[in-house]
Amino acid sequence: MKQVAITNFANQRVWVIGASSGIGEACAKALLQHNAKVALSSRRIERLEAIAKAFDPSQSLLLPVDVLNTAAIRNAHQTIIQQWGGIDLLLFVSGIYIPLRADDFNIEDAQKTVDSNILGPMRAVATALPDMLKAGRGHIAIVGSVAGYSGLPKALAYGPTKAAMINFCETLFYDLQPKGIGVHMISPGFVATEATAQNDFEMPALISAEEAAKEILQGIQRGEFDIHFPKRFSGFLKFLRILPYPIYFWIVRKFVKI
Ligand SMILES: NC(=O)c1ccc[n+]([C@@H]2O[C@H](COP(=O)([O-])OP(=O)(O)OC[C@H]3O[C@@H](n4cnc5c(N)ncnc54)[C@H](OP(=O)(O)O)[C@@H]3O)[C@@H](O)[C@H]2O)c1
Repeated sequence: MKQVAITNFANQRVWVIGASSGIGEACAKALLQHNAKVALSSRRIERLEAIAKAFDPSQSLLLPVDVLNTAAIRNAHQTIIQQWGGIDLLLFVSGIYIPLRADDFNIEDAQKTVDSNILGPMRAVATALPDMLKAGRGHIAIVGSVAGYSGLPKALAYGPTKAAMINFCETLFYDLQPKGIGVHMISPGFVATEATAQNDFEMPALISAEEAAKEILQGIQRGEFDIHFPKRFSGFLKFLRILPYPIYFWIVRKFVKI
């Protein structure tokens, strides 16, 4: 699927939301190494400062935000526009995972997950898009998950939010590709981060956050819409979702300790 690419990140103005740890931190560092200008956002300012300090300070902006707060996202966006005149890439990485099964399903955790993982990226996109549309250029990249492909155990709130992000990116693509704005739907498999450190099972095809960042940046450089990795795992899950349900459920039950 052909769409615009960022072939070289040098001097590109990138807003990374969820930059303080895990995949977002690794992406922010890799972008700074590629000489991009990076606006670093998330709640933990001290973690963002530590990343910025390790590089040329003029390369980054520190913009603490909580993705649940629309006004904070708008203020951060305003600052980037004032300082840099625009955004070439919005890279939305932030997300939360609360393991939930039917016997501990509760609306509080479900609401928190939906607000963070669906409305969070929607707030950022709604804020950044008007300027990109006016400029007729830019890129929107959203980190979803292979957990959004089809239902998996222990992801009673997380899975639906990631499925929603797949649909959101697909739907954005119709409108934005003809306008010259790139859309990148990012679906990682298991990545070793603070979020997955809580998992009490062996994670198949586990990769490091640095490997994930490399896949993400390369996918954007190639102009890919569907950036998924590691292929040995994401490809297998893509295959599973086209199987009839009885076979799909049988295989998942067989492979996952439920
Ligand atoms: N690790 C995996 O195996 C895996 C697999 C597939 C998809 N993913 C997705 O990858 C993304 C990153 O996950 P990760 O594994 O790197 O997790 P992580 O290390 O826990 O990082 C999560 C990031 O999101 C930020 N964040 C969370 N809630 C926020 C809020 N309300 N406002 C602002 N920032 C917020 C955190 O920053 P602060 O706490 O400083 O705010 C942090 O920077 C998530 O969307 C996750 O669903 C991860």
